[in-house]
Amino acid sequence: MNSYLIAFIIFIAFYVVPKLLQPRYPPRDPSMVPDVTEIQSTSQYDGIVKSLSPSQLLVIDFHATWCGPCHAIAPVYDELATRFTHVKFVKIDVDGQRELAQRFGIRAMPTFKFIKAGREIAEIKGANPPQLKSLVSQHAGPVPAPSTSSKPATTTATTSSSSTTTTTTPAEGSLLSHITSKGLSCLNESSAHPLSSIIGPSRGSKGTSYLESDVDPQLLISIPFNEPVKLKSISIFSAIAPEQAPKAIKLYINHLSLDFGDADTQQATQEIALSPEDVKGNKVDLRFVRFQNVRSLHILIEDNQGGEETTRIDSIDLFGTLSEVTDKGPLPKHEHEH
Ligand SMILES: *[C@@H]1O[C@H](CO)[C@@H](O)[C@H](O)[C@H]1NC(C)=O
Repeated sequence: MNSYLIAFIIFIAFYVVPKLLQPRYPPRDPSMVPDVTEIQSTSQYDGIVKSLSPSQLLVIDFHATWCGPCHAIAPVYDELATRFTHVKFVKIDVDGQRELAQRFGIRAMPTFKFIKAGREIAEIKGANPPQLKSLVSQHAGPVPAPSTSSKPATTTATTSSSSTTTTTTPAEGSLLSHITSKGLSCLNESSAHPLSSIIGPSRGSKGTSYLESDVDPQLLISIPFNEPVKLKSISIFSAIAPEQAPKAIKLYINHLSLDFGDADTQQATQEIALSPEDVKGNKVDLRFVRFQNVRSLHILIEDNQGGEETTRIDSIDLFGTLSEVTDKGPLPKHEHEH
């Protein structure tokens, strides 16, 4: 036999065949490691919630080591964490973190909670990969631009003289970052649970921080903006104590100051009867045409869902866009090219 042939057979048998039989691992790319934080303490969790921007999604996986379905869905969760890098993913072991499990009322494992601005916006009980994927992509929001400018894009620089209907509405976002603390106040808030615990820089996390009225169900919240906004919708989350959730509310715009007496005599811009569904943080649309140039908003809360003595609100968010800029310096360059 030809010695070349023997050498060739040896080469095939000892080099090529083992190579082919080797399992093929995908190349290790450090960016493909899912960024999931395992929560070790309540304060660590609260710190994470405070560090996120109001529009940033947080997805919590409440799991337990002994729970089979939790292990089964973990790869799906990790894969989502790899794909949606602008979403924060944390895991909470319900046995290790009983305080948090209790705060969120966890009864089944796994439970996934979707949080924005400290407020729960959705929940999944059980291991349901399609639902988990669809809720993450539904609420993830756009990937933030790398630039440091935090202003929402105002797409049109020219304002039509008679603006009744808007054909090109810029994407609406949370307006919380446009609230100014000067004038931000609430009449008849309790001293233990003032407005500042849910709106503004010292806002706490959901479950521990909420706004509550003092002696009766009524509250009058004053929210000034640092520049004019178009208000599209409002969301109020009060589902932790649904009986104390607000029911009849009145909105007033552009009053320098307003007290309970003024509110009685002034015409409200809109009155809303909130349903028990509405106060679970759902967006409630406003009469958009009436809220085109809002410099300040007053919210009068008249009563609550269960006729309780005091009213409780866990979070408030306002959605819309900045009013079109008319006299704020030069327009972007490309708008002027002819
Ligand atoms: C506001 O609180 C004061 C006392 O703290 C109370 O007398 C008054 O009735 C309250 N006003 C309303 C409209 O609830």
